[in-house]
Amino acid sequence: MPGSSLRAKATFAASALLLAAHLPAGDASADTISRGAAVVEQWCRLCHVHAGETQGSDMAPPFEEIVKRPGHDEAFFVRFLHEDHFPMTTYRLFEEEKRDVVAWLMSLK
Ligand code: HEC
Repeated sequence: MPGSSLRAKATFAASALLLAAHLPAGDASADTISRGAAVVEQWCRLCHVHAGETQGSDMAPPFEEIVKRPGHDEAFFVRFLHEDHFPMTTYRLFEEEKRDVVAWLMSLK
């Protein structure tokens, strides 16, 4: 019956969406990671240099170095992004932006 197969397709699409929304950052899709990279370019590059750039005394280290620090696992970055970040105390990212940034950071490891 054509009607019921359509409904089945719609149900399938809806559950695929739900699944995507609940993917843990560890299984991040390329989309999530590239959105995270864009957020970082927009909000973090004021201070954090790119890997290989010289870091002046008024600049923060590259994320490629930060992710290698001991104990800096996914849980650390999730927590970090939910706290105020001195000297950058005023930034507020949306929850999905935080998740994307963590996914991007994990992709650097
Ligand atoms: C106003 C400048 C500034 C901006 C903007 C900024 N940071 Fe930082 N960040 C710093 C400084 C300074 C440090 C401390 C340097 C260090 O830990 O060696 C730092 C350190 C960090 C650390 C390491 C913390 C640790 O304990 O090792 C993380 C992670 C981080 N920043 C994430 C971010 C993210 C993500 C953004 C963008 C949403 C961002 N920062 C934007 C200045 C900034």
